[in-house]
Amino acid sequence: MRGIRPSAPAAFTRALYHGGFDSRPPPGAPAPALSVSDLDYDYDFDSLSATRPAGPEASGTARGSVHAVADPSRRRGAQDADLHGILQQVFGYSAFRGEQQEIIRSVTAGDDALVLMPTGGGKSLCYQVPAIARHRAGLGVTLVISPLIALMHDQVGALEELGVHAAFLNSSLTGEEAQRIEREMMSGRLVLLYAAPERVTNPRFMAMLTSLDERGLLSLVAIDEAHCVSQWGHDFREDYLQLAQLHERFPNVPRVALTATADDHTRADMRERLALTGAREFVSSFDRPNIRYTIVEKDEAKKQLLRFLRDEHEGDAGIVYCQSRKKVEETAAWLTSEGISALPYHAGLDADVRRRHQDKFLREDGLVMAATIAFGMGIDKPDVRFVAHLDLPKNIEGYYQETGRAGRDGAAADAWMAYGLADVVNQRRMIDESPAGDEFKKQQRAKLDALLTLAEAHDCRRVRLLGYFGEDSTPCGNCDNCLNPPATWDATEAARMALSTVYRFRQHSGLSFGAGHLIDVLRGKVTDKTTQHGHGTLSTFGIGAKWSEQQWRGVIRQLLSLGHLQSEGEFNTLGLTDSARAVLKGEVPVTLREHRETPKGSGRTRRSSGGGSAGRSTAAPIKLDVDGDKRFAALRAWRSEVAREHNLPAYIVFNDATLAQMALTAPSTLDELSGISGVGAKKLEAYGREILRVLESAAG
Ligand SMILES: Nc1ncnc2c1ncn2[C@@H]1O[C@H](COP(=O)(O)OP(=O)(O)OP(=O)(O)O)[C@@H](O)[C@H]1O
Ligand SMILES: [Mg+2]
Ligand SMILES: [Zn+2]
Repeated sequence: MRGIRPSAPAAFTRALYHGGFDSRPPPGAPAPALSVSDLDYDYDFDSLSATRPAGPEASGTARGSVHAVADPSRRRGAQDADLHGILQQVFGYSAFRGEQQEIIRSVTAGDDALVLMPTGGGKSLCYQVPAIARHRAGLGVTLVISPLIALMHDQVGALEELGVHAAFLNSSLTGEEAQRIEREMMSGRLVLLYAAPERVTNPRFMAMLTSLDERGLLSLVAIDEAHCVSQWGHDFREDYLQLAQLHERFPNVPRVALTATADDHTRADMRERLALTGAREFVSSFDRPNIRYTIVEKDEAKKQLLRFLRDEHEGDAGIVYCQSRKKVEETAAWLTSEGISALPYHAGLDADVRRRHQDKFLREDGLVMAATIAFGMGIDKPDVRFVAHLDLPKNIEGYYQETGRAGRDGAAADAWMAYGLADVVNQRRMIDESPAGDEFKKQQRAKLDALLTLAEAHDCRRVRLLGYFGEDSTPCGNCDNCLNPPATWDATEAARMALSTVYRFRQHSGLSFGAGHLIDVLRGKVTDKTTQHGHGTLSTFGIGAKWSEQQWRGVIRQLLSLGHLQSEGEFNTLGLTDSARAVLKGEVPVTLREHRETPKGSGRTRRSSGGGSAGRSTAAPIKLDVDGDKRFAALRAWRSEVAREHNLPAYIVFNDATLAQMALTAPSTLDELSGISGVGAKKLEAYGREILRVLESAAG
């Protein structure tokens, strides 16, 4: 028997609240004793402990002692800023995406904004362009609150590569470095300063901001990953609660809060807790058209994953999400043994190990990260070609955020998930057994149900996903169901057989049984258990022999997903729900998707002829001819060297899409080169000539 097994559910719950899974207890749950090392992110310890003596200038500016008064007339904007010019010149992009232009215009003018855009949608530009425009207008420094210290170095490096003066302040700096940056900041020369939320509780830091503000040099505050202020998501960060202080202290400095989490609860929390009540709200389309969604029925998940990786993603960078730390470790080891370079990442690993693995993932090509949900927030690697789920996420929000990490560069990417009977049972159990309040559980169940409905859907996945976020759309042509419409069958009869057998078990002996035994009885298989319980005499014994075990598993999984069956007790036995009655009576037809083997290759051809060597593909994100491939490979080799020299991930120098465009069009002048998306003025100046040389010699 596969699928359901008495899976020690108590252990699940234990794991959930004592660190086995990377989750936080919901509100209402007793607070577990977390130690700092349990937390998933790197904290700015230095400012947390506030052991630094506050300088004399800090006295009198301690928290709460100053309450400035908001005065709309003191709000300043950068009038007539050439925003499009900044986009082209600095970033090298030709057009704003979606709502970006509206948001950027509004923030530049000095209005508060709440920005909701999907993962990878382009939120950074929404504060970076205003920061540059406002700095040019003499309004000074933009403070960026970002929760992830480990990523600040690269975020700042990317801006400096673009010729934008940026820096971060956190505990990783030496005293001297910090002082230098503070001087840059206090002089107003700095365009963007990144800091972790904890810093706001540091009196010395607040004193510096106050001084800047008094001199009219505190331009803007951007609060990235603003959903961290809400307990409803899984990224809650207590320090975010302190950020309302920025409003109290600097009411005339505009603020923009950004997030990819769109649900109403989180949205309301952000407004209230960040004191953004008057902020204009910008909700972008959540569609990520280049991501292809595929959800397969779990058969042998590992084999299925391997086939998916080998057929479609050889040599590509990607993430494989698993639920537990243990499974992450196993998956990474197993992928490695299959010759795929893979590393584990979860909150239980040493902070150093985590940083090293994350760095490798960002800096090296073609690495697969096996990870819990602790991995991903803020990872802006643009060429993640796939995100695979070996376990069902908790809800659609989680699924969408995790899959959104694929294909930021806009090139084709896959979101692939294997899902089976045990997933449904496990997720339901985790909710049932959690110590959370009833109201919270009810909500979690509803969210899980929405995800199950998506997994079982016969129609366009994207229409359903976007529908969940309140967006109407038409069938996308780029999901498994659109590309390969699943056959369905009328399973009303099978459903009735299964439900009535469950009913008969109970009637016969007062006992209930799991899915494996139910399938044996339906298929008329004599086992020790059927003999022991006398189930051979049941009238339904063997009535479903015409369907395979696999088909039956599908039927039971879908009955569970649809809520006609529920799993109960310590051994995940099956029981009927109220809604089962109508199905039993034949009043409700049941249409199910037909079980099908994962179609090999599923119609996808690799994105390039792939001139890979030694098992490592150099596949460009667009189709290139032989010479183009050569140029692409040469550009990549050149890029790695520059990246190493600058101690930055290669994509920060130029991303694959930009290199591929260079390889395709083979520009021979600086002017031609500057027309390529991703080539801004600074990079043209710094690298233009070398690129032309690389292109020329690759041709020869
Ligand atoms: N107008 C544009 N034209 C071309 N590329 C863009 C544009 N805007 C953003 N991008 C690119 O899109 C990618 C994703 O942007 P960004 O990192 O800002 O996403 P995000 O919305 O912050 O996502 P997350 O929620 O994961 O933090 C980046 O590689 C960025 O350079
Ligand atoms: Mg971001
Ligand atoms: Zn579709």
